[in-house]
Amino acid sequence: MDWGLKLRVHSFAISVDGYGAGPNQDLANPLGVGGMALHQWAFATRTFQRMHGGEGGATGVDDDFTRRGFADIGAWIIGRNMFGPVRGPWPDDAWKGWWGDNPPYHTPVFVLTHHPRPSIVMQGGTVFHFVADGIHAALARATEAANGRDIRLGGGVATIRQYLCASLIDELHLAITPLLLGSGEHLLGGIDAVKLGYQCSEHFASGNATHVVLRGRG
Ligand SMILES: NC(=O)c1ccc[n+]([C@@H]2O[C@H](COP(=O)([O-])OP(=O)(O)OC[C@H]3O[C@@H](n4cnc5c(N)ncnc54)[C@H](OP(=O)(O)O)[C@@H]3O)[C@@H](O)[C@H]2O)c1
Repeated sequence: MDWGLKLRVHSFAISVDGYGAGPNQDLANPLGVGGMALHQWAFATRTFQRMHGGEGGATGVDDDFTRRGFADIGAWIIGRNMFGPVRGPWPDDAWKGWWGDNPPYHTPVFVLTHHPRPSIVMQGGTVFHFVADGIHAALARATEAANGRDIRLGGGVATIRQYLCASLIDELHLAITPLLLGSGEHLLGGIDAVKLGYQCSEHFASGNATHVVLRGRG
């Protein structure tokens, strides 16, 4: 199904050594050990501060990229590990994501998992749907739900890697942060992005991150 919509990755932070999350993700370390530092550049922006009820925040390149990630998005796709720290069969329906009662998505969010559960309606327009029949099914459902707007692929690493290998990502914005993680979830390891048709189409540096946008053939 081609509805002419784009599948976009924004503000995906990686370390200099290529990791999108540190090792040992758990409740205390949502981004793995050391991984939270990947997002320091974004936390400081005006867009992030406003989204979380704050005032102030920096404008400039980092803020421009953060804001761009929310423009014209009608649905999100994320992986089950990005949704939370629970692994394996859900023990109950208690876990509803990291983001509180009013998550910052405000659209349907399709969560890839091998362990389906009923959809969860949150405040502010976010509805989590659990998709157990693969990346193409999730994309088809997100496309329909997006109602003419684009789809944002939030992460994490395993989820982006699958869509990348299927050449389904139209635009992939990486924020390369000045930090080494040493281990964790590597974004591009073993993937030949050139063969898949991707190339760098934009790059800008701020004091906190180097922003690179990759685009596919489409
Ligand atoms: N650096 C950044 O900007 C950024 C952005 C977002 C997230 N993150 C971080 O990335 C980490 C998560 O990444 P991750 O690579 O560990 O995992 P992930 O991509 O979030 O989720 C992977 C899990 O999703 C389910 N899944 C994925 N593809 C599937 C498919 N085709 N069919 C069925 N289920 C599928 C599987 O879970 P089950 O088999 O258990 O159901 C799989 O183990 C977290 O630490 C998160 O905070 C970083």
